[in-house]
Amino acid sequence: MHSSIHRCISQKDSEERYAFLAEWYDPSAALMRRYQLLYYPRDSSVEMIDIKNQRVFLRRTKYDELHQEDLFVGNRINVFSRQLNLIGYGNQYTADILGSKKERTLAMIKPDAITKVGEIIQLIYEANLIVTKAKMTRLSWKQAADFYTEHQSKSFFNNLLQFVTCGPVIAMELMGDEAVSAWRKLLGPTDSGVARKEAATSLRAQFGTDGTRNGAHGSDSLASAARELEFFFPSTTGHGPANTATYKDTTCCVIKPHAVSEGLTGKILGSIIDAGFEITALQMFNMDKANAEEFLEVYKGVVAEYTGMVAELCSGACMALEIRPPDGPKTFRELCGPADPEIARHLRPYTLRALYGKSKVQNAVHCTDLPEDNVLEVQYFFKILDG
Ligand code: RTP
Ligand code: MG
Repeated sequence: MHSSIHRCISQKDSEERYAFLAEWYDPSAALMRRYQLLYYPRDSSVEMIDIKNQRVFLRRTKYDELHQEDLFVGNRINVFSRQLNLIGYGNQYTADILGSKKERTLAMIKPDAITKVGEIIQLIYEANLIVTKAKMTRLSWKQAADFYTEHQSKSFFNNLLQFVTCGPVIAMELMGDEAVSAWRKLLGPTDSGVARKEAATSLRAQFGTDGTRNGAHGSDSLASAARELEFFFPSTTGHGPANTATYKDTTCCVIKPHAVSEGLTGKILGSIIDAGFEITALQMFNMDKANAEEFLEVYKGVVAEYTGMVAELCSGACMALEIRPPDGPKTFRELCGPADPEIARHLRPYTLRALYGKSKVQNAVHCTDLPEDNVLEVQYFFKILDG
């Protein structure tokens, strides 16, 4: 499943980057020149490398006029007054993500299904969709009214707002072939009662209650998806709706990039919830090396794997969680198990590291080591990185 995409995601450095083969007709030399064009969506910057002599032609430079939607093979774009023809994808990753059938859609787990997030993400992966962004938030009445503005004249509008504001929701960006319709097919009919009759395996049949409390939402078109993704994950200014971190009697867990790219996120979340822990905040991050070094600083010079841990943490998207343990002595560290998955499999076979880890560095989850660091680590993600 997605092996090529995942391989590329885990191989490249943490920052998202798209590569194209581009042609430019140089009028002064009267010849066609070829470049590798790199686009970095994080800060909309571009870089160009002359293919013939393998020299940097344009150093990485911010260029706001170029938009990701313009980047597809066959299109002509303008970079600093040069007309470039995009004649090929520079790598499989770019083709997979920006290729013609690839779409993005917005999925939102509604308050009634929030504890089913593990099963739902697992269904998403089994349908060959990838979760590329995720954030738990709690919508205000006004935010919900904005989000559902298309329904403002409907009889069910007030009930709907009452429902989606009654607890946290998890918004996710899903990506894949025909993601808009693929996700709506997974959802099933709007009314969960109808869904149980007509599509028994659908998400709404399994996790919803009735016509309003129906487990999850999906954009109904590419245009809605663009609007709804912008609502939760604004590309320009601001951070969208706030995260739900409480910093109170909680601890930090990070699902590491290797586990995210292996499609283990759903299973890990399911195991955490089944063990009685509450997830009080959830968000995906793409850490850069400086962030990873700062976050893991306490291990520097202490743990032999420090360098590897840093490289792993910034190798792709990770998912940060704020976790509230159940009443009683059970700690989240106990659920994670020994840091070395080999040892964990012998001594504590039902721990997260035993079940999902591969090596001491790729051990599926990070958890806070020292009680006094609990709040600091949660703050690192939910206050500083999401600041
Ligand atoms: P969604 O937007 O949540 O993906 O659902 P949908 O397209 O299948 O349904 P839509 O017609 O857009 O309705 C939006 C949400 O309003 C609630 N609803 N309640 N008769 C009712 O009580 C009623 N009808 C709709 C549901 O939560 C529905 O998902
Ligand atoms: Mg709808």
